[in-house]
Amino acid sequence: MNFEALLSDRLATALQAVAGRPVDAAVRRSQHADFQSGAALPLARVLRRAPRDVASDVLARADLGGIAVAEVSGPGFVNLSVDDGLVHAALAELAADGRLGVPLTTEPRTVVVDYSAPNVAKELHVGHLRSTVIGDAAARLLEWAGHRVVRANHLGDWGTPFGMLLEHLLETGGGEGGDLTAFYRAARARFDADPEFRVRARLRVVALQGGDATTTALWRRLVAQSESYFLDVYDRLGVTLTAGDFVGESFYQDMLADVVAELEDKGLVRVSDGALCAFPDGFTGRDGGPLPLIVRKSDGGFGYAATDLAALRHRVRELGASQLLYVVGTPQRMHFQMVYAVARAAGWLPAGVTATHIGFGSILGPDGRTFASRSGDPVKLADLLDTAEQRASALSADPLVARAVGVGALKYADLSGDRMSDYLFDWDRMLALTGNTGPYLQYAHARIRSILRKSGAAPGPVSLTDPAERALALELLAFPALVEQVVSSLELHRLAGQLYRVATTFSAFYERCPVRTAPPAVRDSRLGLCELTARVLRQGLGLLGIDTPERM
Ligand code: ARG
Repeated sequence: MNFEALLSDRLATALQAVAGRPVDAAVRRSQHADFQSGAALPLARVLRRAPRDVASDVLARADLGGIAVAEVSGPGFVNLSVDDGLVHAALAELAADGRLGVPLTTEPRTVVVDYSAPNVAKELHVGHLRSTVIGDAAARLLEWAGHRVVRANHLGDWGTPFGMLLEHLLETGGGEGGDLTAFYRAARARFDADPEFRVRARLRVVALQGGDATTTALWRRLVAQSESYFLDVYDRLGVTLTAGDFVGESFYQDMLADVVAELEDKGLVRVSDGALCAFPDGFTGRDGGPLPLIVRKSDGGFGYAATDLAALRHRVRELGASQLLYVVGTPQRMHFQMVYAVARAAGWLPAGVTATHIGFGSILGPDGRTFASRSGDPVKLADLLDTAEQRASALSADPLVARAVGVGALKYADLSGDRMSDYLFDWDRMLALTGNTGPYLQYAHARIRSILRKSGAAPGPVSLTDPAERALALELLAFPALVEQVVSSLELHRLAGQLYRVATTFSAFYERCPVRTAPPAVRDSRLGLCELTARVLRQGLGLLGIDTPERM
């Protein structure tokens, strides 16, 4: 049961009667009671009345019978204490529900989550961390809510760089020993320095696009090598992307001509400076002129935008998606807004189908600038994972636990802040056992599991006597509504924040309330509360893609 919503609802009716118009009840958790509403204060200003009078008026009209006891407090707050019986009933319901109060959606959608999307023959680096971690959490969350989720790993596996890469591979056999960065760089260096190589590289692109057998086989090998490398990193990172989710840019090549034909038919593109462009409404350049989305370049080649348009059309038409999410860094925001605008004009995003760019800020190094390695290259994700595991081994001697803690710390640091903000990459902070960190939450969970193991008794129905128990219960009860809210907003940090509140309230409870040494009835009730707390932490962290080891 969502107390906050229930109380807001009842107060809103009363507020409307007093104000003569709808007023937000602004019900929040409070130190002074279970919940508090501050709505009377701003309303009193508008009505030019004393705030306490307004609050009393509201209370006199509010139908809270059997739900809560209310009183006016301080300058005009309304303090609300939820009915005991109701709290107990809600707790019992939560505990009995395998889904912890989160209903399966009654309107399942097909949701395509486009995330991770590294480029073939390049390292997965820190720039891919956020897309991969955020996208994976979003996919888990939507799936758990009952939606059909299609994970789309839009691999960069096509385009002009492949001429240079394949030609280099063919001529040298790729002697860089599997080092992707070195391989890419060597190919690039030759391309830049050697005009004859450049010519051969261009011919190689033509051969690839023309389906030449040798070239295609070579390209397949290159892509397969990268894919298996990416899968290794995904496995270590504990993300749910599999081989079946790779749908690279190359997949859409056969559709591009038709996409262009359809755009032409609908009069949505025209030639500008030799390139075929769409000029979606509402997008202007620096000079105030219309901004082009280049669908076909002047040399006849298709670019990134054409592929994204084809992918979008495919996802809606063939996959039946009604929600498209693109988890890609904020610098690409404009690109996606333009793609959506063109797609909408073309009728590829009919009513009821949404396309959303799930942007995110950058990861900054300790100096506050882009996080780079000493050589100035972006930090490899594989190296980050090595360091995470190695550092976490100080927290646990068990290598599996150390891995869960290291990876968990990395992911939690990424997911616990508002995703639109940049954040500072700081090993010490993310691995700290105190504060809003992954290890702190994993530790809270492991500690509860240990209490349960050592108790030698079975958790019983919960009966609240101490205020610290009640505070914990209210945080647990807030879980389902919060999950539902995050499923729609994808503000993953709110879920993280709620789990953190659960863990800290648990700590406060455990400090005050003995469990194992309490009289049996109290002990069993407290064990019940412990168990429910562990379940909420485990489920919540699981939705964020973070493991919860039994022991730490
Ligand atoms: N491969 C691209 C990059 O590394 C990201 C692709 C994002 N997804 C998309 N549908 N465009 O920048």
